[in-house]
Amino acid sequence: MRQEFLPFSTPTIGDDEIAEVVDSLKSGWITTGPKVKRFEEEFKAYVGSPFAVPLSSATAGLHLTLLALKIQPGDEIITTPMTFASTVSMIILCGGKPVLVDIEPGTLNLDISKIREKITPRTRAIIPVHFAGQSCDMDPLFALAREFGLTIIEDAAHAAGTEYKGKRIGSLETISIFSFHPNKNITTGEGGMVCTRDESLAEEVSLLKFHGMSREAWKRFAASGTPNYDIMLPGYKYNMMDIQAAIGIHQLPKLDQFIARRTAIAEYYNHAFADVPELALPAYAPYEQRHAWHLYTPLVRIEQLRIDRDQFMNELKKLNIGSGLHYKAIHHHAWYRENLPQEAASLPNADYASDRILSLPLFPKMGDDDARDVVEAVKTVIAGNRK
Ligand SMILES: Cc1ncc(COP(=O)(O)O)c(C=O)c1O
Repeated sequence: MRQEFLPFSTPTIGDDEIAEVVDSLKSGWITTGPKVKRFEEEFKAYVGSPFAVPLSSATAGLHLTLLALKIQPGDEIITTPMTFASTVSMIILCGGKPVLVDIEPGTLNLDISKIREKITPRTRAIIPVHFAGQSCDMDPLFALAREFGLTIIEDAAHAAGTEYKGKRIGSLETISIFSFHPNKNITTGEGGMVCTRDESLAEEVSLLKFHGMSREAWKRFAASGTPNYDIMLPGYKYNMMDIQAAIGIHQLPKLDQFIARRTAIAEYYNHAFADVPELALPAYAPYEQRHAWHLYTPLVRIEQLRIDRDQFMNELKKLNIGSGLHYKAIHHHAWYRENLPQEAASLPNADYASDRILSLPLFPKMGDDDARDVVEAVKTVIAGNRK
């Protein structure tokens, strides 16, 4: 058994990130400033988006995007139950109604063939989540959006570096919202980015993110700015700081290398678990894409074991292997069970995955020995708990 606890994820921070943060701290300018601008420009160039707005989180990005789209009470927004709370809670906090559509059993992405039956005259938008860093099938989604006049908002929290049919997520005809939370593909500590081809939407999100002040207001205490400012509308405080962007500037050039390492570990797991019938392994989608492998999420076939998923995670912990839960389906959470029970009616694939899923350790600085320890621990837990 390994001696040290292996967490399910930890950020890979180098000396250059640390030096850049120190440079910000010493510079006298630690909040939104030139480093945020540089990170915005470099991220835009990487994903291939003409407009981008850096923010304090992807949750802020979802919130402001929905506000900028003027979601009205009763407007329906279709999304997946297999996501983090904020995808769905932001819809509710903007007065919208989330409409949950089931997932595919293998990729755990939204089952696009089941969306049409949920579209009504109140449907305004679809929020696909590129689950674990694997792109949803965007072409049929675009066809639906065109047919019914819907907006597509990609929850790209897992998808920095993901590609769909040769195009980076962030460059499609949609709004894409990325997260830079510490366990994401790259981090800024906390942070997010809204990417879009729609200049007026970017302008609106940008106004909303910082008290409704005009786009360049952050300069007002710099030599090149003016202390006076105007409030164009009542806004929030969701700006990214320079000390966050300082980390991002040095993470971004490493993203492809991080994804290559994540992919190598995920493929090692796929190979090592191929002969383990108690695990349903994550499936690759059949279309051309680059999976960013943000998460490695097998399903534990608990019907073949004497323990449930939570006990399985506990047994792994006793062997010093951490794991994560992405996700308990949103309609299994207390508030949703009480307030949106009708939404849970027919989501069998999400129900199945929700009770069986776990995230095994996957992060770029994991060694081959760490990955071997994970495989050994998983096999030990299974061997000790077969029915
Ligand atoms: C699918 C998904 N959407 C949204 C978010 C929210 O991201 P953030 O933590 O940057 O607000 C997360 C973060 O875990 C996520 O995984």
